[in-house]
Amino acid sequence: MPGTMDVTLRFERPSTCRLVVHRGAVSSAGPVLHGLTSADRVVWISDEAVAAKLGGQVESALSAAFRHVDQLTIRVGENAKTLSDFADLIARLHALGADRTTPLVAVGGGSTTDSVGFVAACYLRGVPYASIPTSLCAQVDAAIGGKVAVNTAVGKNMLGTFYHPRLVLVDPDLLDTCPDGAWRDGMAEIVKVALVADADLFALIESTGGRLRGDDETTDRVIRRAIRAKLRLLTPDPFEANLDRLLNFGHETAHAIETTTEHTVSHGAAVAIGVATATRIAVRRGLLDAASGDRVSAVLRAHGLPTGHAFSPAGLRAYRTALRQVALVRAGSMRVVLPTTIGAAVVANDVGIDDLVGLVGSDGSA
Ligand SMILES: NC(=O)c1ccc[n+]([C@@H]2O[C@H](COP(=O)([O-])OP(=O)(O)OC[C@H]3O[C@@H](n4cnc5c(N)ncnc54)[C@H](O)[C@@H]3O)[C@@H](O)[C@H]2O)c1
Repeated sequence: MPGTMDVTLRFERPSTCRLVVHRGAVSSAGPVLHGLTSADRVVWISDEAVAAKLGGQVESALSAAFRHVDQLTIRVGENAKTLSDFADLIARLHALGADRTTPLVAVGGGSTTDSVGFVAACYLRGVPYASIPTSLCAQVDAAIGGKVAVNTAVGKNMLGTFYHPRLVLVDPDLLDTCPDGAWRDGMAEIVKVALVADADLFALIESTGGRLRGDDETTDRVIRRAIRAKLRLLTPDPFEANLDRLLNFGHETAHAIETTTEHTVSHGAAVAIGVATATRIAVRRGLLDAASGDRVSAVLRAHGLPTGHAFSPAGLRAYRTALRQVALVRAGSMRVVLPTTIGAAVVANDVGIDDLVGLVGSDGSA
């Protein structure tokens, strides 16, 4: 028809991410990042605890290649993922005079890589950024894959996007100062990915009998294997077009547990409870043999992780309501990843909220 225009425009953002994993990698952060961005200034951002332990190393590594190095501190843990902290960080970057070419470097655990990554995606419609993950969870999971987000009053990670860093430097030496609790939380993500995608990794974790920390050689093997397993799962679907992702294992209920308990149950502990609950459902359905179910409970416990949560009656009601909200967000059905053997899983579309609520408290073996 004359006067009408109807065209389909295709836009693709060129996006590559260099991933470097080895002990001592942080010392090369300046030259490697400078080579990828050629900016003359950089802003690195971490929480107070990480800045106190690792700030000196990061500052000197970046100063080796950037003329101006600024640092900003954010609050510890999920506090960094609030909307007010997001707005505050944007304002502080503006006050510093950071422009569209200024790379941001997130140095910290998953809360830092999530929140700084989201700021990088939004500030001036997107600036380059790099991640130097310092917790086990961030090294094997949060900093890998470009998923960034902050929380809102409606729920965890409600506001976010996929925005890939130019560089991820995984330096296992940085884990020396990682608190034990954060280490345990990282183990939950490793058990998760092993159980759905890598039976050998699962056996490797089992073989440590819960004593991985301090064994540098095995830790390095576990980190590399867990990253590879995650990359294998996400590379075919980098923007989560398919909602049936095995990487969601344990997470369908984890966010509801975290919010219902006001984050007194950490993300990793909530993932462990989600993994254990889904495993019990799989055993009940005859999808997974009981002996494998017992191996899952045993490996979680050996690494200091919970396999259930004792909600109060009011807490259980709030949990049920939070799960209904998850089902709503996920288009009305509760899709839950269920293991079928150690190293493989399926997505079930018909798991009832009653089953999830009913089995969350069981702390016995599957
Ligand atoms: N984007 C993703 O794909 C993804 C995946 C998994 C988890 N996450 C998110 O990651 C967050 C959890 O990450 P986390 O377990 O790393 O918790 P965290 O970032 O809150 O860190 C836990 C604690 O460890 C401290 N810490 C971390 N590294 C340290 C170090 N080397 N030395 C001293 N202190 C150190 C921090 O200061 C903090 O107090 C959650 O918000 C979760 O939603 C995101």
